[in-house]
Amino acid sequence: MKKIIFSGIKPTGIPTLGSLLGALTHWEGLSSQYNCLYCVVDLHAITIRIDPAVLRENGRNMLAWLIALGLDPEKNILYYQSHVSAHAELSWILNCYTYVGELNRMTQFKDKSAKNTENINSGLYTYPVLQAADILLFQSNLVPIGEDQRQHLEICRDIAERFNKIYGDVFTIPEAFVPPVGARITGLQNPSAKMSKSDEHSNDCIYLSDSSDEIIKKFKRAVTDSDNTIKFSEEKPGISNLLTIYACVTNKKIEECEAEFEGKGYGAFKLAVGEAVAQTLAPFQKEHARLMSDIAELDAIASRGAAKANEMATPTLINVKNVIGFV
Ligand code: TYM
Repeated sequence: MKKIIFSGIKPTGIPTLGSLLGALTHWEGLSSQYNCLYCVVDLHAITIRIDPAVLRENGRNMLAWLIALGLDPEKNILYYQSHVSAHAELSWILNCYTYVGELNRMTQFKDKSAKNTENINSGLYTYPVLQAADILLFQSNLVPIGEDQRQHLEICRDIAERFNKIYGDVFTIPEAFVPPVGARITGLQNPSAKMSKSDEHSNDCIYLSDSSDEIIKKFKRAVTDSDNTIKFSEEKPGISNLLTIYACVTNKKIEECEAEFEGKGYGAFKLAVGEAVAQTLAPFQKEHARLMSDIAELDAIASRGAAKANEMATPTLINVKNVIGFV
């Protein structure tokens, strides 16, 4: 039996270079070794108010990105979370095995509620429990994620261990799979914070749909420092972030990139990073546009994915209900 990989991405907007380098690029290629499920987590997306037409468009767009980036729907299970009701069912059950004290410690909840004071809803609060349900439902062994999701994986493991302690070996305890380079891509304007699709400063963030000109312009404006040496170091967050991005898109080691730009100025370096990113994204953008021109086919892919995911989730959900004591 192949081991199981599960990961999710939220359809709250166009995916960013951060999600690409921290997560999505690592998903392709895993399907030969693992049974892979990748879910567009639309239930997670409604913790913020979102126009229905926009949510629908975002969902399809996200699915199309996953396929355009190389996830073959014949080899990976791709689907929308809202199409498999077991996610919501297990989430409720796990809520009853999660402590408020644990949820209070979640940094993402603290950050998001501080940014969005007029809509601190309980979905935002119990978000990590739904995420735990996503993962545990499939007996997932590995969860490929960026650094920002590590805490959510930790709470998922805690909930699973707690449940198993009471009821026996119900859930597989999942491991995080965080890439050694690229797990935390930061903003181009604010290199001490994560690059985020929900950020309002669009110069901070490269969206996968940005044109080559936009990409190059954003990199030219990227915040650096005054020291003018291209070296990876904690004191140089802007340059280190650009080196990380360049290393990821060119498939080189950070040291090789440092050597390549030794003695060169920041201007030339920023241009080279922008061009490399634009070049990397161009074929994906073309494929994405092609996929978006056939919505019926995209929807059919999602339905087939949901049917398979549903089939895989059902035994675990039945077992959970059984051990708890539901008639
Ligand atoms: P989301 O949609 O914010 O991000 C999707 C994936 O991209 C990674 N990522 C980044 N990596 C490096 N640098 C960045 N700047 C960056 N921004 C995003 C994220 O770590 C993530 O792996 N809660 C999740 C979705 C989710 C999920 C799950 C993930 C729901 N259920 C179950 C794994 C397993 C989220 O909002 O990801």
